[in-house]
Amino acid sequence: MLIKRKIGWELPERLVTPEPIFLNRRALLAGLAGAAMAGFTDNALADSDPSQGLYPAPRNPAFKDAGRAVTDEKYNTNYNNFYEFGTSKTIASEAENLRIRPWEIAVDGEVEKPFTIGIDDLLKKMTLEERIYRHRCVEAWSMVVPWSGFPMRKLVEIAKPKADAKYVRFETFNDPEMASGQQPGLFGSMPWPYVEGLTMAEAMHDLTFVVTGAYGKPVAKSMGAPIRIHMPWKYGFKSIKSIVKVSFVTERPIGLWEQLQASEYGFWANVNPDVPHPRWSQASEQVLGTGERVPTQLFNGYGEFVAALYTGLENEKLYM
Ligand code: MTE
Repeated sequence: MLIKRKIGWELPERLVTPEPIFLNRRALLAGLAGAAMAGFTDNALADSDPSQGLYPAPRNPAFKDAGRAVTDEKYNTNYNNFYEFGTSKTIASEAENLRIRPWEIAVDGEVEKPFTIGIDDLLKKMTLEERIYRHRCVEAWSMVVPWSGFPMRKLVEIAKPKADAKYVRFETFNDPEMASGQQPGLFGSMPWPYVEGLTMAEAMHDLTFVVTGAYGKPVAKSMGAPIRIHMPWKYGFKSIKSIVKVSFVTERPIGLWEQLQASEYGFWANVNPDVPHPRWSQASEQVLGTGERVPTQLFNGYGEFVAALYTGLENEKLYM
């Protein structure tokens, strides 16, 4: 017998405020706290994206609401962390230099047969859906994003990993000519490319999402076009953008931030209000675009679904 269980993110549709009503200039200014508004750009180049006909994707009813209003697209496309294009939040115009076609993704490591696949061929193999997720940055700000894409599990299935694959390692492009932030200099000394990793169990979890679109169209360059991931229960730095390589590996990958500052950024990075970052509290978060600060929730509120992933790992630094 099928029993319908009401899950955490299934809150009334009315809580999702339509964008035009939600957009309030004063809250916008308060939320961005002085960010350079003049730098705002529209997601104009997405219009010439060959995958644009695939969007909007049908919303998966299990993820139709995140319990908070969807953040206006202007914030998501113009207030970003994408260090390949600079260290400020206003990298959107610089990120327009990102060339998203041709775009190939190498799948290698402990798989039956390594292969490389173009983004449009990958999209043809997948059924796209929309999911509304809360997105919590380690810097204590948050957004609510209508992502489009497919469950990571589907990518793992086509990769056919061998039994000894324990982790999935993701890598972003490394192209200093295209990405000014990767040029030698102050930030050229960062250990590019951006790398992140998950355990196989995390990669197979239903919430782990491969993002190819947002706001009913191909994902904006500033948000990590043409393919990124998002795990809503982890701090945002785990959700690597503009992926060119997915490797199935036996050793735990060391992410770019862990390599730079292991005492502050670890492998697990699960959201926990009770475990402060060494330099600031994680107890609450600024909800961008609202001017509001709200209490942060354990696993960003997704604990009911993901806590079991960490049973037996209590000795690990699960929350940094
Ligand atoms: N991926 C790459 N390649 N480069 C980055 O600088 N920043 C991370 C993550 N993925 C980053 C990245 C951080 S710190 C966060 S909070 C999120 O992307 C931000 O995603 P958003 O700009 O779409 O909100």
